[in-house]
Amino acid sequence: MREGGLHVRKSIDGLRSGSFEGDPGVIEDVLFAAALVTPAGEAPRRGAGLAASVVRDAALVWRDGLIVYAGPASALPPGLEVEATDELVVHGAVVPGFVDCHTHLPFFGWRADEFEARLAGRTYRDLQGGGGGILRSARLLADASDEHVLDFCVPLAEEMLAHGTTALELKTGYGLSVEGELRQARLARRLAAEVPQTAVVTLLSCHAVPEGYERKEWVETVCTEILPVAASEGLVDAVDIYVEDIAFDLNDLARVAEAATAAGLPLRCHADQLGDSAAAEAAVREGARSADHLNHANTAGVAALCAAEATGAVLLPVSTLFLRADPAPARDLVDGGAAVSIATDFNPGTSPTLSLPEAIGVAASLYRMTPGEALTAATLNPAWVLGLDDSVGSLERGKRADFVVLDADDVAMIPYRPGHNPVREVWLAGRRVA
Ligand code: NIG
Ligand code: FE
Repeated sequence: MREGGLHVRKSIDGLRSGSFEGDPGVIEDVLFAAALVTPAGEAPRRGAGLAASVVRDAALVWRDGLIVYAGPASALPPGLEVEATDELVVHGAVVPGFVDCHTHLPFFGWRADEFEARLAGRTYRDLQGGGGGILRSARLLADASDEHVLDFCVPLAEEMLAHGTTALELKTGYGLSVEGELRQARLARRLAAEVPQTAVVTLLSCHAVPEGYERKEWVETVCTEILPVAASEGLVDAVDIYVEDIAFDLNDLARVAEAATAAGLPLRCHADQLGDSAAAEAAVREGARSADHLNHANTAGVAALCAAEATGAVLLPVSTLFLRADPAPARDLVDGGAAVSIATDFNPGTSPTLSLPEAIGVAASLYRMTPGEALTAATLNPAWVLGLDDSVGSLERGKRADFVVLDADDVAMIPYRPGHNPVREVWLAGRRVA
């Protein structure tokens, strides 16, 4: 029944009353699983509380797309007792849908030749300086029609869904002109409308200094001409800035933070990716929602993130591997109590992967994050970064029934099998979508 492609089951009401006639419009609303693995409790999770908990022989029950019960099958509350018949059983662990809180979609085109050039000894910095990198993706985007961009991006978002991503972030940052950035934000909103996932949009106009601008002049243009318009038109949900010696500095961060606050938008920060810019500490000081990358975060930055209430630490392990960069101080952040998330950083330059299972795999092997920690770091904590933790990120009563059925009953199988997609089923608001 479950493998047959027709995923209509009896509703609980129908089962209880015995009156169910097999109406194909009835959505599924209960399943039993050998294991349900989920973070629980208030977001974000930290330290020893980061690891997801495992419920063996579990049941998940939902109504109108919202979870009404997630826990041991033996403890189903009165009124929800259902027998675990074969058709209601899934053979694999049930986990929350993955939340990818750092991607650079929408973009257009790839840069595999830059990857090859780096293998031959060029560096990311050096390619960027020669007009490659971000500036090249900006030209590719500018030269493509809206329809071509969406035709390129929609299948990628669908591929993300097949890898279990049920909510994600989209960013600008390849528009790199006043009109180009607003266009990319509109394209991001269109992409969000065309895919089944929940998607939020971040304005990353301070991603590179466009040709023809001085750095300060571009920052002012962003803060006075782009950000206020994007905010007032409701095109974006957050603001990001790339702090790096080849991009923007701490004064620019402070200026963008001020403009984001004035627009009522949360701040994010690409911090200390290629070198130590003291950006992690500054991001905490500015009250950013997250500091991302952190490969070169210094001791003060790590300490600030471990103590921060409002600022999460977003690790991007695949871009670390892909750039052969120094690893981020992941264990120090986890053990020190930072609100750690893992994301793909999906983009054509530093992380052409869209798979959160792959990011979890690299986080386990490279960063020694346990599978249970990595699961929370790819679900509830990134939901908090995106401001979505009230509705998604964990399998708890009242949240939306966005979940994934794995092809194994142990979440350790996610990082244990690199290159394998462990996602067998994907459900959004209680409906199977992949
Ligand atoms: O997060 N480093 C800055 N931004 C991206 C890369 C963007 C690109 O190379 O196109 C990142 O790694
Ligand atoms: Fe990024």
